[in-house]
Amino acid sequence: MKHGWFVTFEGIDGSGKTTQWKLTEKYLRKCGYDLLALREPGSTALAERIRKILLDKKLAITPVAELNLYLAARAGLVQEVIAPALKQGRVVVCDRFYDSTTAYQGYGRGLDIALIRKLNALAVGSCIPDLTFLVDVDYATSLSRRKKTSDRLESESRAFFKRVREGFLEIARKNKKRVVVLDGRTSVDELFAEVRAWLNRRLTI
Ligand SMILES: Nc1ncnc2c1ncn2[C@@H]1O[C@H](COP(=O)(O)OP(=O)(O)OP(=O)(O)O)[C@@H](O)[C@H]1O
Ligand SMILES: [Mg+2]
Repeated sequence: MKHGWFVTFEGIDGSGKTTQWKLTEKYLRKCGYDLLALREPGSTALAERIRKILLDKKLAITPVAELNLYLAARAGLVQEVIAPALKQGRVVVCDRFYDSTTAYQGYGRGLDIALIRKLNALAVGSCIPDLTFLVDVDYATSLSRRKKTSDRLESESRAFFKRVREGFLEIARKNKKRVVVLDGRTSVDELFAEVRAWLNRRLTI
């Protein structure tokens, strides 16, 4: 049985997820919550190794292999870290989670969305986010905010990121109660004011 609370940040590369995730961590700690801040892929020894593989530009990774690497990283993180934390009543704040797999590997790479839903379900079990912030930006904004040196995934084409963005928006439409869409073009402070307001409304533990 889960007693904690689980919030995730999603969006395309450079949308501003990590910025809002960090501000959320700081804010909730100040509020006195027993907090666990995580990032995906990562946050376990295995998943951090998988992260290195996934971001390596020198490696050729087929879409199916990529999907399975993300799932392998997520399955361990959920079982070893997220599920126990939620059981202990902690608040878990994660930078990316399973919506990214649906958006990137499903809508972006074109793998079967229904199959991804099942595989995601297998990896996460009952650890479904209570609230998800989708930081939505257009491709031009995303590009202007990215680092000069891009990793393997960031080197993808404009068409790919448009599909991924549309995928995220579709996920939000299908999960209206869980997913809040934020206009990522506004300032960091304006965005966080919205995030904070949603947290104050929804975080009831
Ligand atoms: N609302 C904002 N307005 C302007 N610049 C922003 C905003 N949010 C973040 N930035 C800047 O944009 C860059 C990317 O932000 P951030 O790292 O938070 O994005 P991200 O979505 O986590 O990216 P990635 O997918 O690559 O991890 C950073 O330099 C950050 O300072
Ligand atoms: Mg980030």
